[in-house]
Amino acid sequence: MRIRQHVNPLATFYEAFRGERPALPAGRPVEVEIGCADAQFLFERAAVDPGRTYVGLEIRDELVAVVNKRARTTGAPVVAVFCQAQKHLGQIFAPGVVDRVYINFPDPWFKRRHADRRMVDDALVVGIAAVARAGAEVLVQSDVWEVALDAMEAFERRDEWFVNLAGPWSFWRHGNPYGVRSWREQHAEETGLPIWRIRYRRA
Ligand SMILES: C[S@@+](CC[C@H](N)C(=O)[O-])C[C@H]1O[C@@H](n2cnc3c(N)ncnc32)[C@H](O)[C@@H]1O
Repeated sequence: MRIRQHVNPLATFYEAFRGERPALPAGRPVEVEIGCADAQFLFERAAVDPGRTYVGLEIRDELVAVVNKRARTTGAPVVAVFCQAQKHLGQIFAPGVVDRVYINFPDPWFKRRHADRRMVDDALVVGIAAVARAGAEVLVQSDVWEVALDAMEAFERRDEWFVNLAGPWSFWRHGNPYGVRSWREQHAEETGLPIWRIRYRRA
């Protein structure tokens, strides 16, 4: 199967929600990775803690199919949902049902004319605030300083909803606390790239 390197998240095709809402069995905490790609991170989380439901949100439908096939084959409690996360969080989840959100290595969109394609913006932060329960955790990771800083700005602007666990406008300096790695995180560590991390708690 051919998997596209990138898609333009601003294309009108992504306006409407075309994915399937995930089943969220009662009593199982919900963890969400926004921009999950192959969902390596979520499959590893599921192996560590199988009592939760892991939902990957992804704009490339080819990857959604790959993740869901792997979940079916292995029986892992992982499900991928085809969506444009900034637009569709509220159609995927009821308010306050999400316990943890991961944003691992969002696309950097380096060219200035593509800056508005970056995923972590006010719309995404507002969407996360709506679906996260009080006390929910948010982890953002990037190996690109400008992307990490942009993401921090987006969350700090909404400090009535999100408390920075390292203190206002501060990066988290104690590593990834969850003991599993995304594909991109593994690559960054193996090639010695710096990783900028930010952690928040939903107020
Ligand atoms: C650089 S990859 C990182 C993948 C994975 N999180 C990791 O750390 O290995 C970013 C992913 O986010 C997806 N993505 C980008 N914009 C998105 C959006 N608006 N909604 C959902 N997924 C998006 C991309 O298709 C891509 O798979």
